[in-house]
Amino acid sequence: MRKIIDLIADELAAAFEGAGYDKALARVTLSNRPDLCEYQCNGAMAGAKTYRKAPIMIANDVVEKLTDSKYIAEARAVNPGFINLKTDVDAVASYLNAMKADERLGVRKTENPEMIVIDYGGPNVAKPLHVGHLRSAIIGESIKRIARKMGHTVLGDIHLGDWGYQMGLIITELKERKPELPYFDDAYEGEYPKEAPFTIGELEEIYPTASAKAKEDEAYRKEALHATYLLQNGHRGYTAIWNHIMHVSVTDLKKNYANLNVDFDLWKGEADAQAFIPDMIERLKAEGYAHLDEGALVIDVQEETDTKEIPPCMIQKSDGASLYGTTDLATLVQRERDYQPDKIVYVVDKRQELHFVQVFRAAKKTGIVPKETELKFLGFGTMNGKDGKPFKTREGGVMRLERLIAGIEEEMYKKITDNRTVEEAEAKETAKLVGMAAIKYGDLSNQASKDYIFDVDRFTSFEGNTGPYILYTIVRIKSILNKYAAQGGSLNDLLIDGAGGDSEKALMLELVKYNEIMENAYEELAPHKICAYIYDLANAFNHFYHETKILTEEDEAVKKSYIALLILVKEVLEACIDVLGFEAPERM
Ligand code: ARG
Repeated sequence: MRKIIDLIADELAAAFEGAGYDKALARVTLSNRPDLCEYQCNGAMAGAKTYRKAPIMIANDVVEKLTDSKYIAEARAVNPGFINLKTDVDAVASYLNAMKADERLGVRKTENPEMIVIDYGGPNVAKPLHVGHLRSAIIGESIKRIARKMGHTVLGDIHLGDWGYQMGLIITELKERKPELPYFDDAYEGEYPKEAPFTIGELEEIYPTASAKAKEDEAYRKEALHATYLLQNGHRGYTAIWNHIMHVSVTDLKKNYANLNVDFDLWKGEADAQAFIPDMIERLKAEGYAHLDEGALVIDVQEETDTKEIPPCMIQKSDGASLYGTTDLATLVQRERDYQPDKIVYVVDKRQELHFVQVFRAAKKTGIVPKETELKFLGFGTMNGKDGKPFKTREGGVMRLERLIAGIEEEMYKKITDNRTVEEAEAKETAKLVGMAAIKYGDLSNQASKDYIFDVDRFTSFEGNTGPYILYTIVRIKSILNKYAAQGGSLNDLLIDGAGGDSEKALMLELVKYNEIMENAYEELAPHKICAYIYDLANAFNHFYHETKILTEEDEAVKKSYIALLILVKEVLEACIDVLGFEAPERM
């Protein structure tokens, strides 16, 4: 459906034209004085110069022409030249009924669907998943869902960190503990065991142990570096260990991400990019894009318009090893070969911005990626604790994701069972859903690039701008609808007529914004706009609810219209939380 604001602007454009003015002046915005009007147009002011007329005169002329419009019930010219608009309640109601009848609730699919890759999650294999990876997963998942809703073809790629030094550390530690394993016997030519020589629990202990040792013990560190080197150069036994690490970790990661309601289409990683590196480097050298700088191979990416220095993108160290940037460039080679994306969005900690500036420039300059492909860095801020420092456990360690989630669920469980008897299983299930909403909404309601404070008390509150408040609102509506049905009312084929009071009109005007908000959230890759919208919508609903007798309304027709409105509020809220990545329980 066309956005209501555009429909209003069309009517205004006709009025400008009819009064002899340029219709381009008919820009309509939401009112910034909701006490006076609902929408407004400041075009008369903008036209004053061109027409050498006082803005109020232009405004008056335009208002005069607005006599038989459909959406505008009241137009007023006010000094110095604003045009204040109020909508026609019947027109808004019929717009809402059209939304209600549309399975997409009025959101139009894009006319130019694109192939988009979203690079998010980015956990490092064999290292425990911690809160730092939480933001990427939550934001990336939401961007993916929003883009899909707009009709784009989207692939979410987890881009595992699976090719680094941590692998050498694990191999070294394993060798110390179990030197008898065949992986360490260079003379061994048989098949390696199918079973991994460690469980996920052991693996999670091996990595920090090895990492701590390497910091103390230089010989150990050298050995781990060497093991990394051998692995990266195809050592047979180490490759077999790597496969075990991957299998055990990825199984665990899949479980963790499934718990978070985060789903990747591609489980590729840095290791998958390695095969593309040699040819890529050859070409970059041969075509003169890469040159040696103090022994390292680099691509210059400084541009004339830069106000600060952008160091070259390094693609090979003097010892021949490749780097983070090399892997990202090679990944682009692979993505280009396999998907020819129109756009790639990287959802990564904003502290990595410079890295991506270098990689993007190098990729464009060397033709790895065509000029018209959009490479977009969506950098997010740090999740801090209440002390304003990066979120830690009480003991000061890095918080494991599972711990964090379990903590929130416990908190929710307490709230749900407080003063109430709820069946154990249901309470657990509800706590899970509400906990997820608390975490995700707590994150997504902030502009991604900003740091934010992870405040468990605030995030789990049923009041205020929180996930649980949104769910509570949905549950409240579900309960009214269930009661209505239990009283014999049918929920089908109901129409909104909007005969009620101000709070109903206000709620209706929130609802009509839905398609515009969704479009805008996509254009700006900004899930926080959806959060802000559903907070307003939930508030408008609750205000209406407190002022209105719904089930006890005596006029059957009015009651039906209320129920129709409730159904639409519920559907819009549910569609929004779906793109944010969480869902509502039946009760709470
Ligand atoms: N594994 C990286 C980290 O933990 C994030 C990967 C981001 N994606 C990318 N294509 N570099 O910092």
